[in-house]
Amino acid sequence: TRTQVAIVGGGPAGLMVSHLLHLAGIDSVVIDNRAVRTIETTHRAGILERDSVRLLVDSGLDRVLRDGHRHEGISLRFRGLSHRIDFENLAGASCWLYPQTDIFIDLHRARTADGADLRFGITDTEVVDILNAPRVRYTDATGHRHEIAADLVVGADGSRSICRSLIPGVTQYFRGYPYAWFGVLVQAPPSAPELIYSRSRDGFALISQRTESVQRMYFQCDPSENPDEWSDDRIWNELQTRLAGEDGFRLKEGPVIERTVLPFRSFVQTPMRHGRLVLAGDAAHTVPPTGAKGLNLALADVRLLADTIQQALTKNDLTVLEHYTARALDRVWKAQHFSYWMTTMLHRAEDSSEFDEQRQLGELTTLVASTAGSTYLAEGYTGWPGR
Ligand code: DHB
Repeated sequence: TRTQVAIVGGGPAGLMVSHLLHLAGIDSVVIDNRAVRTIETTHRAGILERDSVRLLVDSGLDRVLRDGHRHEGISLRFRGLSHRIDFENLAGASCWLYPQTDIFIDLHRARTADGADLRFGITDTEVVDILNAPRVRYTDATGHRHEIAADLVVGADGSRSICRSLIPGVTQYFRGYPYAWFGVLVQAPPSAPELIYSRSRDGFALISQRTESVQRMYFQCDPSENPDEWSDDRIWNELQTRLAGEDGFRLKEGPVIERTVLPFRSFVQTPMRHGRLVLAGDAAHTVPPTGAKGLNLALADVRLLADTIQQALTKNDLTVLEHYTARALDRVWKAQHFSYWMTTMLHRAEDSSEFDEQRQLGELTTLVASTAGSTYLAEGYTGWPGR
């Protein structure tokens, strides 16, 4: 096969590149080693920044406006009381609750309807000659080896990217955290109209939503925690304890229908491009989940990248690719700080002292009382404007 752009990775980042390139008249082939069904049922974050929603809607994917929920703020909860951060008043913007799985479904449907060449469930991916004549090779489900020749290769193959290791002389920035999230899907009505980010002595908890009858919740846990050792009762006890307060707040309980432990890390690799290979999304950078920046960052990369690729291919001049890393990293580091800040402000480190506890409460108290502080949160959460 010969195509203009070979895209390794068919998650939201890879499919969105393919979709935007198609709208610009550029053809692509997408490969992914997972099955469509696996991606559709792997639960990820659910919050879209204002400009992520714009990107979806402007490119013809407007189901988010019907099935998503616009949120004009969040609650920060500490010392057993909730404090609303009003995004509309502070930053003139909102975010949308719309699960990543739905974005994948929308993109997959649109690409399929447009006759895209999508190859899921493949194995043994290999990318060669990214300096001159890139080729992507893989094995299909029947054991046959295939080769795709392309002008450019996009590595949108996630946090365990094989593409990123093809870029020589990189700098990698890494930070680990001594905790993870225990994520659950529960069958219950919503406990609150907006998200609650709760800091307690027992650790962080996040109350999010999905539908009228299914909710998404997380609580800080040890990275080695085994989800199978947690009964529904034990999960609800942990969540209720971390949300409890003098206002008498209680979560509405129901059966736990899914449980997973999510890893936590901050990671950036630079540069994000070498020769005819460019990276997008988690392949180049990972953020801890607090604040839901991962997918939004990937979509911001993709918007920039689709534009860059269009210029490179229509002018037959690769020099525009030279600016991609710097332009993408500008936002990446803003989001890295934001995610780190939300995380460390709300989680409890195992070795935290009484000083750390009180300092953290001091920070949260200042933040909710300060228009400047709250505005920084509102701007970061709803997303910085593109450039
Ligand atoms: C969700 C996940 C997040 O990490 C977050 O900050 C907000 C919401 C979610 O899955 O709904």
